[in-house]
Amino acid sequence: ADKMTGGKTYLEPAIEPIAYESGVIRLLDQRRLPLEEVWLDIRDLSSFDMAVRSLAVRGAPLLGIAAGYGISVGLRESIRKGNGLSEDIYNKVKATVAATRPTARNLFDTIERIDRVYRDLRGRDAEGIVAAIEAEARRIHERERANCLAIASNGATLLRGRVITHCNTGVLATGGVGTAFGAIHAAYAAGRIDSVWVDETRPLLQGARLTAWELKRIGIPHRILCDSAAASLVSRGMVDAAIVGADRIAANGDAANKIGTLGLALICNRFGVPFYIAAPTTTFDDSIRSGAEITIEQRPESEVMGFGKCRWAPVGSSAENPAFDVTPADLITAIITEKGIIEKPNPTKIAASMG
Ligand code: MRU
Repeated sequence: ADKMTGGKTYLEPAIEPIAYESGVIRLLDQRRLPLEEVWLDIRDLSSFDMAVRSLAVRGAPLLGIAAGYGISVGLRESIRKGNGLSEDIYNKVKATVAATRPTARNLFDTIERIDRVYRDLRGRDAEGIVAAIEAEARRIHERERANCLAIASNGATLLRGRVITHCNTGVLATGGVGTAFGAIHAAYAAGRIDSVWVDETRPLLQGARLTAWELKRIGIPHRILCDSAAASLVSRGMVDAAIVGADRIAANGDAANKIGTLGLALICNRFGVPFYIAAPTTTFDDSIRSGAEITIEQRPESEVMGFGKCRWAPVGSSAENPAFDVTPADLITAIITEKGIIEKPNPTKIAASMG
């Protein structure tokens, strides 16, 4: 999928998972991958709400992109139904989008950006306001694409050999070439890495279903492993680096990411393997001092006790299902952003690099 032009490799994502046109979001339904490629047309706010909650669309930067289009859909729906665009309606649409999922910072970053557009235009005609919000949503989409390319080239320089990743950070999570996935893609294109270990990522299998699907489409060699096999592989010297994404990064560098990330970071720390986080600056939350302040989404226990129609846990058992964990900054070798590489992250270095 990569083009060589003038000695430079231009990365291309495996697919375009989201598009917006005239009040309709076209989404690749990530719940059905990799077995089926089904596209959803989202025309109203309640379908958007369900699509996000059920992870038809997911991944922090992609949630940021989707949120801009989701607000646009909600406002278009109100106008179409003859309810116009009052302050009250705007606030309700915004509150619905904000309540979908709590952890990914990008969703709230988008809401704040759209809010600034709305405040500037208050009092203008409904059409003018929605058009300006749609334009902002498209800018957010473009910016995340550009962020991914910069992260990919910054991160590629750090990787070599056999790399492990957790969850999914490719186009399906970002709308661009990916964050951690983009760095892996760029490093592979540059001949720096040989293959990728893909944590399956219990319980919803974003690794085994989505990352493996993306790697396969691009043609990068990979093997899927149970999350619990990572310690064994790392301890036997079979992993040269770990790189993952993030959903929210506190001012001190503590990073929330998919459940299981903290375990991987601890394993890497114990065996001296570098552990990298790759994320755009839109994932950083400078309003919180540490990861202790990050709201961790709790998901339905049914996701742990079975999958789809199959249930394996006994009737009467219950399950704990936190969707994210927080890796303390001191376990992170470096954070890679579109602006550069923050080695041994701390509050001063992070503030300086945001500047
Ligand atoms: O619950 P999900 O699938 O939305 O969680 C996604 C992750 O944890 C990703 O690793 C994270 O958002 C980084 S995406 C570049």
